[in-house]
Amino acid sequence: MVTKVKKIVFSGIQPTGTIHIGNYLGAIKNWAELQNNPDYDCIFFVVDLHAMTVPYDASNFQATIYNAVLDNLAAGLDPKKCTIFIQSQIKEHSELTWILDTLTPLGELQRMTQFKEKAEEQKSEVNAGLLTYPVLQAADILLYKTDFVPVGKDQEQHIEFTRTLARKFNARFGEVFKEPAALIPKAGAKIMSLTDPAKKMSKSHGPESYIALFDSDEMIRRKIKIAVTDSGKEVRYDPKNKPAISNLITIYHLFADQPIKEIEKRYAGKGYADFKKDLAEVIIDYLKPLRQKRERLEKNPDYVKNVLEEGRQKAQKIATATMIEVKKKTGLI
Ligand code: TYM
Repeated sequence: MVTKVKKIVFSGIQPTGTIHIGNYLGAIKNWAELQNNPDYDCIFFVVDLHAMTVPYDASNFQATIYNAVLDNLAAGLDPKKCTIFIQSQIKEHSELTWILDTLTPLGELQRMTQFKEKAEEQKSEVNAGLLTYPVLQAADILLYKTDFVPVGKDQEQHIEFTRTLARKFNARFGEVFKEPAALIPKAGAKIMSLTDPAKKMSKSHGPESYIALFDSDEMIRRKIKIAVTDSGKEVRYDPKNKPAISNLITIYHLFADQPIKEIEKRYAGKGYADFKKDLAEVIIDYLKPLRQKRERLEKNPDYVKNVLEEGRQKAQKIATATMIEVKKKTGLI
């Protein structure tokens, strides 16, 4: 009997205290679908080391990391179908980062879009970790011999950078790493801010610019009601000329699982207000079971602890094996 080697699917999210519907539609929703595919071995993790590259509160960081795990479990990750772990519990991420750092030209890091954006936001507080962030991300991915990385559009450049590093390492020291491919969804890869459709939805643009996965019903209604719209009043999908309403239609399309054409037809002749009112209810209905699941998980810390311990052990096994290969090839003792 030939056993088919499963492809490795690997991705992660920063613990920032709030997961928004951009994170969910661009990434987590797809993770929850991919874990059901018998051809894939899925590994997901909370990237606490990455979150330290911007100012954060150490006194409640443990709780923030733990809550990010709860959020992801509530959002659909099933430990029976995938591995879930916390980045800093596997020391090999930091170890491999150092080795990959020595192969990375400084200029390449300085040109990365996310670095430039975040450095602009941080101004006087830019640390070296923010610059080498993509190397840590590459180490994360390569350590697990990843085939596919399901992410939103904003991570495309980091995955491309990871591929380059893998090639460089393999050419210099011999074949160890796979070149991973980004899996970017057709719809939802870049959900835009509710207050400025020219910017991607992000926690850094203020609470009215995003809907958090666990916002109350009232908050969701309010945020959709005050979300900016375009001039005119037609509910039509046209990202170039109507970016705000097109973003809202995309959100509707993904949460209601209805074709965009059908949504346009339903609201033909009606205005933005009717559409927005229904959109809020579509989001609320979809998120309700997630919120209920989260409440159940909150009452079950032992279960979560077990999930993390199992995940840590599985991740550790793979990470240890890869680092043995890496050390051998790079000439370390
Ligand atoms: P992070 O924590 O910023 O975001 C987690 C995931 O959410 C996606 N995303 C979006 N998708 C659509 N629309 C948006 N507005 C939106 N905002 C965020 C992101 O693309 C991402 O998939 N560097 C990564 C974390 C990371 C990682 C990794 C990912 C570290 N190591 C290894 C994959 C593999 C990040 O900051 O994601």
